[in-house]
Amino acid sequence: MTNKIILGAMVALFMLTGCAGNNGSSSSPSFDEVLTSRRSVRSYDASKKISEAEVRELITATQEAPSWANQQPTKYYVAISPEKLAAVQDLVGMNKERIANAPVLIVSTFERGKSGFFQGNQTNEIGDGWGAYDNGLSNCYLILKARAMGFDTLIMGMRDAGQLRQLFSIPENETVMAVIALGYRDGEPTRPNRRALDDIVRFF
Ligand SMILES: Cc1cc2nc3c(=O)[nH]c(=O)nc-3n(C[C@H](O)[C@H](O)[C@H](O)COP(=O)(O)O)c2cc1C
Repeated sequence: MTNKIILGAMVALFMLTGCAGNNGSSSSPSFDEVLTSRRSVRSYDASKKISEAEVRELITATQEAPSWANQQPTKYYVAISPEKLAAVQDLVGMNKERIANAPVLIVSTFERGKSGFFQGNQTNEIGDGWGAYDNGLSNCYLILKARAMGFDTLIMGMRDAGQLRQLFSIPENETVMAVIALGYRDGEPTRPNRRALDDIVRFF
């Protein structure tokens, strides 16, 4: 009887420490692993697909991002069908070859006049820049969650906003921001150098 109690206590302790160590799953990467293994990927594995359900999980994670007064101005338009993928590939300039085999391409926009505004008036000098800020936050959640799910991404600022607007019937009150490629890396990307820490921070 005493042995059973001790065994039970050991199992419980093992489960508890396991949970505390890595979000309860030994296969989940740590947050730092997500940060350091995420790279801008410019070559995708054509044999690996991503489902609509997985994209839904990814975009659900972006909804946890903070935004100005919880305005949530970011919208996503997802190309996942062969026809729409081919159309978007033609609208990202010299990125086309880089994302040729990505199974999903996501256009991000934000609704103007929400973040940075109160009762229709611009709150400070940044104006709709706060919408772009919130869009970047959402997209940051997206690329990190993607990495945590084992996917890779490429944010593309080089894209034809006007043609994308037509392709997805994006309303005029939304600003088209980045197109984000989503897929699986085909080979290991290199890490571009970062500036020295003391170039970007001052303590007072
Ligand atoms: C707003 C933005 C726009 C970008 N546009 C492009 C692009 O059009 N094409 C591209 O290959 N990379 C693009 N990148 C990726 C950057 O070049 C990349 O993030 C940077 O070199 C650092 O590399 P890393 O993401 O692997 O850490 C963009 C990144 C951001 C944040």
